[in-house]
Amino acid sequence: MSDVRLHAFPDSLAFAAQLGRAIGVRAARVAVHRFPDGERLVRVRSPAGGHAVLVHALRDPDARLIETLLAADALRRAGAARVTLVAPYLPYMRQDRVFTPGEPISQRVVGALLARAFDRVLTIEPHLHRVGRLSTVLRGGRAVSAAPAIAAWVRRRGPDVLLVGPDAESLPWVRAIARLAGAPYVIGGKLRLGDHHVRLRFPVLPPCRRAIVVDDIASSGGTLATAARALRALGVPRVEAVVVHAIFAPGARARLRAAGVRTLVSCDTVLHPTNAIPTAPLLAAALGVARRARAC
Ligand code: R5P
Repeated sequence: MSDVRLHAFPDSLAFAAQLGRAIGVRAARVAVHRFPDGERLVRVRSPAGGHAVLVHALRDPDARLIETLLAADALRRAGAARVTLVAPYLPYMRQDRVFTPGEPISQRVVGALLARAFDRVLTIEPHLHRVGRLSTVLRGGRAVSAAPAIAAWVRRRGPDVLLVGPDAESLPWVRAIARLAGAPYVIGGKLRLGDHHVRLRFPVLPPCRRAIVVDDIASSGGTLATAARALRALGVPRVEAVVVHAIFAPGARARLRAAGVRTLVSCDTVLHPTNAIPTAPLLAAALGVARRARAC
C-alpha cells in the first residue's frame, strides 16, 4: 500500500521526524485534549492515509496506552485500511508470568489489547526473555533488535572492551552485540531481592581496561549499580553502561554515578538526556515502506 501517512503524539514527534526522514514522509501531530475529570480525547489528521503509521513512545504507560487505543480507532474512522503502531518502548512486558499467586500476566493483557487495535506493532527489544517471539503474546507484533546500533556504539569505544550482561536473560542479545562488535563478553547471575535491590555474581573476568554493562531496561538502576560495584571490586578500572530503554526512576542516575558508572548512554526509545543511540533507522527498515522521493 503506497498511501502511507505518519501520525505522532506530541512527545514522539522528534522520533517520528527521524522515522519520517528515513521513509520520506512527514509526521502529522495527534492532538490530545485532557478533560477536567482526567479523561482524554485524541484527534488525528483526516484523512489518515490508507496505511496509517502511529508513533507513540509508551513510557509512563497507563494514560498513553488509552490514548494509543483511541488513536487507532480514530485512524480507522478517518479512512485508514491498515494501522501500524510504532512503539519504540513497549511497556508491561516484564510481568510475563504469574510470579506470585494472585497476579495477572500483564504482558498478555497488554499484548491482546494492542493486537485488537492494530494490524502491526513494531517495537525495539521488548522484554521477551521467557517468551522468545513477540507475536506469541501480540498478534502482528514484531520485535526489532537494537544490537546493530549498540554494537556500532561499542566499536567506537575502542579496543580492550569487555561486554557484561547482568543476568542469564541478557545472554542472547549481549552475545549478538559482542559478535557484531568483535568484543568478548561475560554474563552474570542475578537474584532480585526487591524493586530496588538485586544480588549479582560474575564469573572470573578476562583482563580488560573497560567493562560496558549492557541491559535492556534501567528502571531503579539497581541492576546496573550492583553490576558496576561488583566489577570494580573485581579490579575493572573503568565501568560504563548502555541500556536500550532509559526508564530511570527518580534518583537512578545519581545511584549509578555513586556506584562508579563513568559513562551512561541509552538508545532513544524513551526520551532521556542519556539518549545517544538512534533506533529510528532500524524501525524504518522494519516498516518495509519504500522511501518516497520527497516528504509530503
Ligand atoms: C530484568 O530482567 C531487566 O532485564 C532489567 O535488568 C531490569 O528491568 C532492570 O531494572 P532495575 O534498573 O530496576 O534493576
